[in-house]
Amino acid sequence: SSIYQKGLSYQRPPFTFKPLEWESLAAERMSADSKGYVVGSAGTGETANKNRAAFAKWSIIPRRLIKTTSLPEISASVLGQKLPFPIACAPVGVQRIFNPDGEEAAASAAAKQNVPYIMSTASSTSIEDVARANGDGVRWFQLYWPPNEQNDITKSILGRAQKAGFSALFVTLDTYILGWRPSDMDNGYNPFLRSDQVGVAIGLTDPVFHDHFKKKHGKAVEEDMGEAVAEWTHTVFPGYSHSFEDIKFLQQHWKGPIILKGIQSVEDAQKCVEIGVQGIVVSNHGGRQSDGGCSSLGVLPRIVDAVGNKIDIFFDSGIRCGADIAKALALGAKMCLIGRPYIYGLALGGEEGVSHVLKALLGDLELTLHLAGICSSSQEHLNRSVLTKEDD
Ligand code: FNR
Repeated sequence: SSIYQKGLSYQRPPFTFKPLEWESLAAERMSADSKGYVVGSAGTGETANKNRAAFAKWSIIPRRLIKTTSLPEISASVLGQKLPFPIACAPVGVQRIFNPDGEEAAASAAAKQNVPYIMSTASSTSIEDVARANGDGVRWFQLYWPPNEQNDITKSILGRAQKAGFSALFVTLDTYILGWRPSDMDNGYNPFLRSDQVGVAIGLTDPVFHDHFKKKHGKAVEEDMGEAVAEWTHTVFPGYSHSFEDIKFLQQHWKGPIILKGIQSVEDAQKCVEIGVQGIVVSNHGGRQSDGGCSSLGVLPRIVDAVGNKIDIFFDSGIRCGADIAKALALGAKMCLIGRPYIYGLALGGEEGVSHVLKALLGDLELTLHLAGICSSSQEHLNRSVLTKEDD
């Protein structure tokens, strides 16, 4: 691939191509608060550790003398669209704490690399500014869903996202309250309650939230920023969950595909099919929400067997290299979301750093498939027959 050829001609990358070193390199550049927030996970870290360990349980069996005349095609077909690559940037909040250019740098890099960018409700940049930075890239919006009593705020956010060209809605179901995160608690840190308001850009730029705040507190947002920040944080992390029934409201107010993020059980995946959403993300939030949980890759095959032919299955949690992406796709995911790695790229090199991470993952994936004799990332060629399960 062109990335590899550049390496051979001694053009130095902005930082290493070794993906397992990105975390420690980025950590050196960050404040203790930011480092704890991005690297940290729930409780003892068991779920996050299992996410990584699950990949090593599967191995790719290479085939030989498969005649090829080109590198493999690594496209994806999701949500009725063909996209050039089978990865997307996962929604990650408060990106300005990792680099002053935050979401705008990441959304611009994603567009340049032809990778969809999923914008978080917890972004530190407004919906409209992220859309501008993303230009004609493919962008999707992730919702942290206010309680039913505040449906007018939800409608306002969805309307803004739709108007700004976000074409699909990812609804995160596993974070109606932040998980038990010892790193953040040790640091006395909540990225959304910072006095510089970096975590609450969408709320502070939302007219309906402003009205709501005035009615409830008898003053304008600008008159009490501390209270406004706390109010917005409580609006998007209300502490309690919605029900499957409530999804109807989103279906009425969002014109386009809806994908439910955070699915880990076959039963929930089946309910998602019943209520008529277009996709699910098999995800445990990178092990950041519940401790003692199952690995996300471990539950993927069962969910694919149950609903893979009825709904688009996205996957995340634990992906760090090209072979990890290959394994998740082989187990039936249509597209993988990349979380922490591109944030490490953002911390290490802003827009160029995010581009480097995305290019490195895609170049690695391309050569991994090529050397295993797999000529494309489609299910026809990349499926369970290329994998073997290692003994425990
Ligand atoms: C996240 N994630 C997340 N998910 C979401 O739906 N909305 C959000 O605002 C955030 N914010 C967030 C912040 C940070 C710092 C991290 C690391 C993650 C979860 C994210 O979308 C994804 O599910 C995981 O990051 C995937 O796991 P890996 O790739 O980080 O192992």
